[in-house]
Amino acid sequence: MHDGTTAQALLENTAPAAGESVLILGASGGMGTVLIQLTGATGARVVAVARGERKTALVRELGADEVVDAAGPDWTEQARKVLGPAGADVVLDGVGGTFGLTAFALLADGGRFSAHGAPAGGFAPVDRDEAARRGVTLLGISEVQPADADYVRHAAAAFAEAAAGRLHPVIGAAHPLERAAEAHAAIEGRALVGKVVLLGG
Ligand SMILES: NC(=O)c1ccc[n+]([C@@H]2O[C@H](COP(=O)([O-])OP(=O)(O)OC[C@H]3O[C@@H](n4cnc5c(N)ncnc54)[C@H](OP(=O)(O)O)[C@@H]3O)[C@@H](O)[C@H]2O)c1
Repeated sequence: MHDGTTAQALLENTAPAAGESVLILGASGGMGTVLIQLTGATGARVVAVARGERKTALVRELGADEVVDAAGPDWTEQARKVLGPAGADVVLDGVGGTFGLTAFALLADGGRFSAHGAPAGGFAPVDRDEAARRGVTLLGISEVQPADADYVRHAAAAFAEAAAGRLHPVIGAAHPLERAAEAHAAIEGRALVGKVVLLGG
């Protein structure tokens, strides 16, 4: 529920238009798997960055138009190739750190860079002066803390997409509540795709 709500807010803030390129980092995770599907529905071209064979296969299955494997040292080259010389119109950064900073360099001048995640250890340390020089709009985590009415509106929109069969939640694993530590270990070990569910008694 929370991922769908956040994804709706991110898409409202960055407003990808049909034909624009949207680079999604952390595409195999909880947020990423929802963002791929909802961004694709806008008519924008989805370029998804995920790590390794299993995760890149998943994001392709979810409808990403282009898939870049972050496992290799050349992922930026791959991304540059599929984005073309202009770069991405929108970056949705769910990873942060130097990984997110690298994606900032893949953004077109005048584009929108939205950072919502920091599993890399911190948000991408983007230079605000450079962003201003390049005409880039910077959006952060505070822009996806909607007021109650907007939260309900975004949640309702995400649920409607799921109910209509157009948005498929990806459940990568389920653990009994009393073994929640295993779920945390799997998240930390970067072994999961999508969301992990804890099953109550
Ligand atoms: N869920 C929400 O509604 C929401 C709202 C606001 C903010 N956020 C934030 O957004 C971020 C993503 O959330 P999520 O629910 O999608 O988390 P998640 O399911 O754990 O996904 C994290 C993604 O980041 C990648 N990743 C993890 N560590 C990385 C690293 N060190 N370097 C590069 N990639 C890394 C993972 O893939 P690999 O490990 O394979 O690279 C995975 O695709 C989190 O920081 C979360 O706090 C989430």
